Amino acid sequence: MKKPLFVTLLFVVALMQLNAQDQKMNAFINALMAKMTVDEKVGQLNLITPGSDIPTGSVVSSNVEKKIAEGNVGGLFGVIGPDKVKQAQDIAVKQSRLKIPLLFGSDVIHGHKTIFPIPLGISCSWDTALIRYSASVAANEATADGLNWAFSPMVDIARDPRWGRVSEGSGEDPFLGSAIATAMVKGYQGKSLADKNTLLACVKHFALYGASEGGRDYNSVDMSKMKMFNEYLPPYKAAVDAGVATVMSSFNDVEGVPATGNKWLLTDLLRTKWGFKGMLVSDYTSIGEMVNHRQGDIAEVSIQAIKAGMDMDMVTEAYLGTLKKSLQQKKVAIADLDRACRLVLEAKYKLGLFDDPYRYIDAARAAKEVLSESNRTVARKIARESFVLLQSDYKTLPLKKSSSIALIGPLANDRSNMLGTWAVSGDPQKSVSVLEGMRNVGGNTLKIQYAKGANITDDPNLARQANVFGMRVEIDKRHPDEMLQEAVSLARQSDVVVAVVGEASEMSGEAASRSDITLPASEQKLLKALYATGKPVVVVIMSGRPLVLTGSIEGAAAVLQTWHAGIEAGNAIADVLLGDANPSGKLSMSFPYSVGQIPVYYSQKRTGRPIDPNNKFSTKYLDAPNEALFSFGHGLSYTNFVYSDFRLSSNQLSKQQSIQVEVTLTNSGKYDGAEVVQLYTLDKVRSVTPPEKELKGFQKIYLKAGESKKVSFTLTEEMLRFYNPSLQFVSEPGEFTVMVGGNSKDLLVRDIVLK
Ligand code: NOJ
Repeated sequence: MKKPLFVTLLFVVALMQLNAQDQKMNAFINALMAKMTVDEKVGQLNLITPGSDIPTGSVVSSNVEKKIAEGNVGGLFGVIGPDKVKQAQDIAVKQSRLKIPLLFGSDVIHGHKTIFPIPLGISCSWDTALIRYSASVAANEATADGLNWAFSPMVDIARDPRWGRVSEGSGEDPFLGSAIATAMVKGYQGKSLADKNTLLACVKHFALYGASEGGRDYNSVDMSKMKMFNEYLPPYKAAVDAGVATVMSSFNDVEGVPATGNKWLLTDLLRTKWGFKGMLVSDYTSIGEMVNHRQGDIAEVSIQAIKAGMDMDMVTEAYLGTLKKSLQQKKVAIADLDRACRLVLEAKYKLGLFDDPYRYIDAARAAKEVLSESNRTVARKIARESFVLLQSDYKTLPLKKSSSIALIGPLANDRSNMLGTWAVSGDPQKSVSVLEGMRNVGGNTLKIQYAKGANITDDPNLARQANVFGMRVEIDKRHPDEMLQEAVSLARQSDVVVAVVGEASEMSGEAASRSDITLPASEQKLLKALYATGKPVVVVIMSGRPLVLTGSIEGAAAVLQTWHAGIEAGNAIADVLLGDANPSGKLSMSFPYSVGQIPVYYSQKRTGRPIDPNNKFSTKYLDAPNEALFSFGHGLSYTNFVYSDFRLSSNQLSKQQSIQVEVTLTNSGKYDGAEVVQLYTLDKVRSVTPPEKELKGFQKIYLKAGESKKVSFTLTEEMLRFYNPSLQFVSEPGEFTVMVGGNSKDLLVRDIVLK
């Protein structure tokens, strides 16, 4: 289609303005760099944490103030609050020779002070507009507090729930992961980085961190390039395409070379092929860790990292200690140092820090906008949307506000665990427990009694490890049997039991891999005792990962997966349990039937011996099904959605001619609600073995009870492309299957031909 002339003109004018801005920035930075000594350039690459406020690792820097004054620091993280940020910025712009302002980073992962659900939870909302909005709220709060760089989004595809960091990402699927990566970057960075309420986003952990062997954190990764390109790299690429300003490397190696010093990854792929123009930062001590990866001594690994394209050194201070000498020895070219220094300065320039180094410190705005009522409302809404109703007898939920409820469980009257991992600025005192939420939403008619019933875990070793950042697992002074008896007797006196169980926040997240991901034994025992009362039991699960629930939930009337749902968790859970909101979340990550199945994900390939109950020699386990207990895309509602009139505008697709895929969605139940309509395809004959299903589109549709709506997707040839062994992005003509439905299993199916 031809564009009208004025559109083309507008485009040209915009391009000219952009060039003019770039030229202005280049001139400024050229002039500044001409004044800089080698030491000062190296200083810009140094990102450290004083460690006093928010320790996010085990190494902290000393003499921070002196280093800033001497021009040996480019940025800080873990400094919280406008006053402290101002103090540090003062030193940089008043005492250092060139007065270059500092960057202030932080792990703003799911909200700043208004804590949203953990990212895995947020991803189950499948609501990209809301997700983008949540990131803009986080940016608004963080910037008022002086921060200008969020170490988020984490977009590592993860298919092994033993890995604790699945909580920080968007699950198993590259298409959903890419959509969320885009939304997050746009939410944080807004229209312009120079705005006072936007900040640098940082996509991480580049790359493949989610595939660490055995689900053990920091472990090695190895996979084919085809798998990388088709399944693991798309969300990082989506973030780059969305204009992400910074990228953080991962701890793992990629094809035998640590990501932090991997030239193919950081330069050939990210910069040259994908066109990334921003700044790269290492992960916490990951330059230094290359010594442990057996890449050489600290000087050698620093050379490797900077030559590979790594700009900023987080925490190791390896560049600071070695680069000057390596330059003198001609082991590093000045061009490499200049590139890295320039990119750090460009980030600062784009934020507007050279115009006003204090622009992100605004105590008045912080007082008004941080943790505001309207932000809490967003947190409550997104929490509701992130809940996944895993199982339901369709009669117990929603609970009547006139019922008598036994609220049981170690997480029912708890305000800290619901904040989840990486809530570095979250304040448990400001969060709402489930007990409080039930009282708020249920009002006077609700009769509610509470008992703890069990400890999150009785295992002191696990408790100790979960309590590193403060008390999360409190082992009760009472004997477990006494707690259990109290809970059982409350259950017997009530109409219905709500049991709130799961993981403490620090049982997932960084350095929190688990080999057994069932509910802790103490909670399993509690649930069994509650089922034995014969009362309907609604199980509410707070966790940072998909758990193995086999054997724990069969007796439940309903199971609501709420993740660690953030500051408004209690209110949001009560909204859903008491029927003010209808659950609409869909899993972004499969729940395994057993640990032995892992990895289990919906897009697995068919084997040469597909499962066949009549064939002993087909692909299967002797003691478990092949399928997940709850697979990707699954999520129930209080209402019922019917899919009908599945139509394609044609059964022939070509490069020139797309197909309209249409289906009618009807809310045939009694409640208003939302459904995520999912579109999948299968390439029926392919030169390289295809996944059985791949998500290609989704739409979240709100329908009143009784309402119907036609939902349509445009299917193009491009959507059927994949990376072949030569890493060309191609489609192959032939037969495809198009599938539509409300989860990845129950789908309407039609075949088409790609010409
Ligand atoms: C290490 C983590 O891997 C990373 O995600 C985080 O941003 C840094 N520490 C800084 O806290």
